[in-house]
Amino acid sequence: MAEQPTRDDKFSFGLWTVGYNGTDPFGGPTREPLDVVHVVEKLSELGAYGLTFHDDDLFAFGSTDAERQNQIDRLKQALADTGLIVPMVTTNLFSAPVFKDGGFTSNDRAVRRFALRKVLRNIDLAAELGASTFVMWGGREGAEYDTSKDVRQALERYREAVNLLGDYVTDKGYDIRFAIEPKPNEPRGDILLPTVGHALAFIDSLERPELVGLNPEVGHETMAGLNFTAGIEQAMYHGKLFHIDLNGQRSIKYDQDLVFGHGDLHTAFSLVDLLEHGGLAGGPGYDGPRHFDYKPSRTEDETGVWDSAAANMRMYLLLKERAQSFRADPEVKEALEAAKVLEIAKTTLNEGESYDDLLKDTSAYEDFDADAYLNGHGFGFVRLQQLAVEHLLGARS
Ligand code: GCO
Ligand code: MN
Ligand code: MN
Repeated sequence: MAEQPTRDDKFSFGLWTVGYNGTDPFGGPTREPLDVVHVVEKLSELGAYGLTFHDDDLFAFGSTDAERQNQIDRLKQALADTGLIVPMVTTNLFSAPVFKDGGFTSNDRAVRRFALRKVLRNIDLAAELGASTFVMWGGREGAEYDTSKDVRQALERYREAVNLLGDYVTDKGYDIRFAIEPKPNEPRGDILLPTVGHALAFIDSLERPELVGLNPEVGHETMAGLNFTAGIEQAMYHGKLFHIDLNGQRSIKYDQDLVFGHGDLHTAFSLVDLLEHGGLAGGPGYDGPRHFDYKPSRTEDETGVWDSAAANMRMYLLLKERAQSFRADPEVKEALEAAKVLEIAKTTLNEGESYDDLLKDTSAYEDFDADAYLNGHGFGFVRLQQLAVEHLLGARS
């Protein structure tokens, strides 16, 4: 049985996740709002180590300075009382009417200037609370119609904004890195930087690329029909996995934000294996927060909210245990070897070998028996996958 979560597991939750009141496009709230102090106490009790939030989750948009400060003070007191930390902060540039065409990339220049001011103020708060990651989810940065947005210019404005934020944290001496969260659509018809790959290319174009990485979300890559684990591996390959949003999504449809593992369980298994153990043939794992960005279904009452929060952590720990048993199984090790999974780590050319040497190597071509691959040299990937699923199901230990 998986153990109870502890602080060492680095589980964190967004204030907006457990705080989701059930509102969707077809119906209003099904739950009362939750107070931040209560949330911090409950998360602490359940074994989480961190709370994250958007500015507007903590103090409503349009709050006076005094109202804002009061909420910050209440949060700080709750953190001090429980030992919970704030590893990440993010800004809401999507709910208020002013952001209906986005923040950093609104066609309306005055809105872009307002958005930057809102973010700068929130970065100061992030630094004050000791957060090391600042997430940027551009949910409204996009369009419904091709005629309404010049995408190249919009990307240039996005770039201008992120460059400015990079200058700001550098000049202020803040120990903060940015993590862009891709999403293909919802709420906009099409969102800018829709996938991990798009965002990686964008980051490369920035003035301080070292300050900017990714916060990929399980559900968002899945909405684009992509393999989340593979996307995370590429983000790690580029050194850009700064943060992660864990949740569940069942195929290409609206953003479900289910409990982690309640979507594609195979992917959840391979993801936990990757984060915990690193690549199958080498490469480190992930050391950052295991952040849950899910929504307790609107069918649930408050008991269901805390049950679902606990379910995320328990699911992660169960999968971690299953991944450990997968990695430790001698038959799996043998199957990995037989499937040449480890051979991918070997360079294709020998050290110091040139293309001239390769051209002279008759064993590589002239004498190579490519025909032997017809009904021969099977890789045994199916056997390996079956072993993985049997570990996942608890049929092997
Ligand atoms: C979504 C997103 C958001 C962002 C969050 C951070 O479900 O569409 O995950 O929840 O992660 O708003 O800015
Ligand atoms: Mn989501
Ligand atoms: Mn998210």
